Amino acid sequence: MYGTWGVFLGGILLLQVLQLSMGLDNGLALKPPMGWMSWERFRCITDCKLYPDECISEKLFRRHADLLVSEGYADAGYEYVIIDDCWLEKNRDNDTQKLVPDRKRFPNGLNALSDHIHYQGLKFGLYQDYGTNTCAGYPGVIKHMKLDAQTFADWDVDYVKLDGCYANISDMATGYPEFGRLLNETGRPMVYSCSWPAYQEDAGEMPDYESLKQHCNLWRNWDDIEDSLESLMQIIDYFAKNQDRIQPHGGPGHWNDPDMLLLGNYGLSYDQSKLQMAIWAIMAAPLIMSNDLAAVRPEIKAILQNRAVIAVDQDELGIQGRRVLSRNQIEVWKRPITPVTKSGHHSYAVAFVSRRDDGAPYRIPFTVKEFGLTNPNGYNVQDLYDVSNKLGIFQSESQFITRVNPNGVTFYKFTAL
Ligand code: GLA
Repeated sequence: MYGTWGVFLGGILLLQVLQLSMGLDNGLALKPPMGWMSWERFRCITDCKLYPDECISEKLFRRHADLLVSEGYADAGYEYVIIDDCWLEKNRDNDTQKLVPDRKRFPNGLNALSDHIHYQGLKFGLYQDYGTNTCAGYPGVIKHMKLDAQTFADWDVDYVKLDGCYANISDMATGYPEFGRLLNETGRPMVYSCSWPAYQEDAGEMPDYESLKQHCNLWRNWDDIEDSLESLMQIIDYFAKNQDRIQPHGGPGHWNDPDMLLLGNYGLSYDQSKLQMAIWAIMAAPLIMSNDLAAVRPEIKAILQNRAVIAVDQDELGIQGRRVLSRNQIEVWKRPITPVTKSGHHSYAVAFVSRRDDGAPYRIPFTVKEFGLTNPNGYNVQDLYDVSNKLGIFQSESQFITRVNPNGVTFYKFTAL
């Protein structure tokens, strides 16, 4: 009898260990997620009397779900409508302990909003925080992880961003995987975005990328993006300086996340907007906009919807790119993409980023092999921001000349022949 029980209990224990070690494996985010999120542009605006079109409310997210479709973003691949912080009541429900969306700003509850988003053919994302409170001070999940994971599933959530304010950083390596497992156990597939490494980096700790890959579909590596070129460049530099340890870990189902796209807001010029979009595509970054989609100027909308650039970001190989060299303040970034030749030579997306501010567009020649492009049959080169501009065939010994605007980018596809 004792023996049978022993085997039985042992079996249960083994199953639990297996479940814990199996990781996320939810089959989601095989390409970097694309969508729209409220934080960068709308922050924690909660006064709907003063700012009816901007406050974090059902209205804001319905409006943006509708605009994603009517303005053509959904056709270009933008899919997730993600509520960031400040959607909650300050207290949980007294009886059930469930999370409660702000009653005034989300008067119909989250199921009604989620239905609307799904009805538009889009997917629904929601922010929460692993700690006692979200960064803006609303209740976090820590003492109610199972209940909250189930509540998310009941609200038909498709994407969860789990932040890390008001939490012990030392608990995160077990706590984040635990919440991912609880999400999985609901049976509803939910993309899982973890902020855990950003908090470790801030505390000077080295993130465990193998564990991240196993437990999260994407993760914020570093600081929040803000609406300026300075913030954008700090993030780009962080990813470039640390690329040896960060780049190898991005791939289908598990992405590094340099944070939201700023395009369509106040801080970036036209050229700087092209720069962010190109480098995000090189980095295989999630393309999550945060802007007022009703106010995006046509030329910026064209960048956000540029099919050739989006195709680089979404390339099926999912290999993250790198900064490969810098000369005269012009940086060269490259990313291996499809098609791959029979002999195994990749095609490449190549971006030239100007860190210059000396006025005139800067003309600079390179030899193709300097970027490490060595296909013996050469490359057919096309301008990704002007696909009608076909530059012709280049061999690895060929000279390639580009002319880059100050704080701007030129962006090409080198298709291996
Ligand atoms: C942190 C995150 C941001 C945003 C805010 C919300 O700063 O990194 O992306 O979610 O919290 O309070």
